Amino acid sequence: MYQKMKNYYSPLFLKVIICTLFLLSVSACKSYNDSKLSTNTLRVGVALYTQDDTFIASIVQNLEKLARENENDTKNLKINLTIMDGRSNQTTQMDQIDQLIRRDYDILCVNIVDRTAASVLIDKAKESNIPVIFFNRQPVAEDMERWENIYYVGSKGEEGGVLQGQIVLNAWLNNKSLYDKNNDNIIQYVMLEGEPGHQDALLRTEYSVKTLTDNDIAVEKLSSDSANWSRSQAATKTSEWINEFGKQIEVVFANNDDMALGAIDAFTEAQLDIPLIVGVDAIEPALDAIKSGTLYGTVKNDAVGISNNMMELILILYNGDDPKDKMQIDDEHYLWLPYEIITR
Ligand code: GAL
Ligand code: CA
Repeated sequence: MYQKMKNYYSPLFLKVIICTLFLLSVSACKSYNDSKLSTNTLRVGVALYTQDDTFIASIVQNLEKLARENENDTKNLKINLTIMDGRSNQTTQMDQIDQLIRRDYDILCVNIVDRTAASVLIDKAKESNIPVIFFNRQPVAEDMERWENIYYVGSKGEEGGVLQGQIVLNAWLNNKSLYDKNNDNIIQYVMLEGEPGHQDALLRTEYSVKTLTDNDIAVEKLSSDSANWSRSQAATKTSEWINEFGKQIEVVFANNDDMALGAIDAFTEAQLDIPLIVGVDAIEPALDAIKSGTLYGTVKNDAVGISNNMMELILILYNGDDPKDKMQIDDEHYLWLPYEIITR
């Protein structure tokens, strides 16, 4: 037995071992170099609630630009973005996500149709070990806790509301004689709300007005209704209000720019002076309207910042690094982008 053991360490045996190790290391080097030369493809599925939304379109446009830029930077990486249009239907979107999971995509970016319906989606992604980056439409907090590889990139609806309220507050305090048409020291306003149930619709509606009342400004709501983020629906709604309230309307709050532009369309059509109208997003046509003086102000919802953060997160996850070491992530899951006031 002792004799047998000893044989393992004979010079011949050692030579064999050394040769084997050498060959193994050469072949390891070779395959490492091979993979360096060949192109790696990063496949990202991007599921949108609808393609028919101006602000979302600007996020997607920038994501595509960033994908091209990052391909150039790291020459052996190709980034495929597959964009899916959920057509405002959660069942349609779920089918699309099932497809992306079946095709084994590396990462999913989800602009979820129904923000209360994230749990099934998260469980499926977890089962297949595919990280999910939600953006712009925020799942409820409990669902976000279902798995560590779940992220949300967006802005705080509450903050958008506060800043929008501040725009109106400053205009009112600085030029009350102009805006208080009936001289009663009260703001008569209408509110164009986004989609019912959307965090930004609920919070912007609440906090814009709260900012005024917190500053001891008296307000009177003439009317409010949802126009689903849509310019044409907002124009129709505002025309009704113009018929009902006419010149009594002193301020129009719109939860987003598209609806603010719809309100401007309605006042223009009715050939009435345009009251103080404020939006949120800072989309291109809204910035033009601010320049021309029809839109008083907006709050920038940072589409570029959102897409930049998404791409950074995508690359970190793809490289197998921990995003928490490299980015500012709150409560394990959230990447927040600040809003910003824009007036003339
Ligand atoms: C909001 C944005 C709206 C609309 C909506 C879609 O943040 O202000 O214009 O794009 O998201 O989820
Ligand atoms: Ca008044």
